[in-house]
Amino acid sequence: MEEINLLAEKLCAEHKLSVSEYEFLIKNRTNYVTEFLRQKAVDIRKSIYGNSVYIRGLIEFTNRCKNDCYYCGLRKSNLNCDRYRLEEKQIVACTDEGYELGYRTFVLQGGEDPFFSDEVLCSIIRKIKQNHPDCAVTLSVGERSEESYRALFEAGADRYLLRHETADELHYSKLHPEGMSFKNRMNCLSVLRKTGFAVGAGFMVGSPFQTEKELSEDLKFIETFQPEMCGIGPFIPHRETPFAREKSGSAELTCFLLSVIRIIKPNILLPATTALATLIPDGRERGILSGANVVMPNLSPLAVRKKYELYNNKVCTGEESARCRVCADKRMQSIGYQIVVDRGDMKSF
Ligand code: 5AD
Ligand code: FES
Repeated sequence: MEEINLLAEKLCAEHKLSVSEYEFLIKNRTNYVTEFLRQKAVDIRKSIYGNSVYIRGLIEFTNRCKNDCYYCGLRKSNLNCDRYRLEEKQIVACTDEGYELGYRTFVLQGGEDPFFSDEVLCSIIRKIKQNHPDCAVTLSVGERSEESYRALFEAGADRYLLRHETADELHYSKLHPEGMSFKNRMNCLSVLRKTGFAVGAGFMVGSPFQTEKELSEDLKFIETFQPEMCGIGPFIPHRETPFAREKSGSAELTCFLLSVIRIIKPNILLPATTALATLIPDGRERGILSGANVVMPNLSPLAVRKKYELYNNKVCTGEESARCRVCADKRMQSIGYQIVVDRGDMKSF
């Protein structure tokens, strides 16, 4: 049999490969291997999660950010970004609406906004958990100190998303200004795990300067760190960033990597991301059919949605939360999956 097919078989049997094998797999993938791994990924996912798709209500509560990542539309140097910050009662109101819509996980995502001190964030977390003790709270608020992470966990936050962005230190330095460090990012992920959070890592597919080599390091990182969650989506340029003229990542490669990640860690919580849905109209469906098992519809107030612009043309910015919820239902039903009212914790297998 051809070497590439043997490698795909090996991945399925051992749930790991060497970095150079991952690289070979990505570089030499054929339609046949892609379809083979996709089918394996779907089988594995079904054996653990059945037809269930978990939903997370995404609340983009601040677009202010002290960082200046070259790829991100919220970077502080973007003076054309209309900045906002939701108040505690607005955030809590989003969760109350979300609860009625069947969400049992709320993801509080924001830029690195110093206004949201531990005190402010902990109060919001406590309030949400008090109103909805049967729900999980996921934070996605960037790099903070160990003490901060501990305070947030003790206030009741359950999970934390911090994409590593790239597992290659040199590549990391090409995506971020001086002052942001790869080592600190990786250290934050370890600290989050030690603190007790279910941890989410992740990366963009097709970010500038990325080659198959960097992607294979990302796969090795997922394999060794074993995050509970992994967010991957295509890079999409934003016109007010240094990467404005770079090209978007590939939806096909993103889907391929979703399948590979599902096989590496069978029970991982893996979203079909908004970026994938932005790049191709059936991105959420394609993501699920490649091995993903989570979707994260938008729960932010309509008035601020367009302002949370990580990249241009983001979908769902004109939709009411209730419409996004119905849309997600329809999309999943159309491919034989079912959104469930559930916290959606990672299952053991
Ligand atoms: N294209 C795609 N994804 C992006 N992100 C930030 N900017 C972009 C972009 N231009 C992703 C990053 C970040 C997450 C919140 O959004 O991976 O961690
Ligand atoms: Fe928002 Fe489809 S999920 S409109």
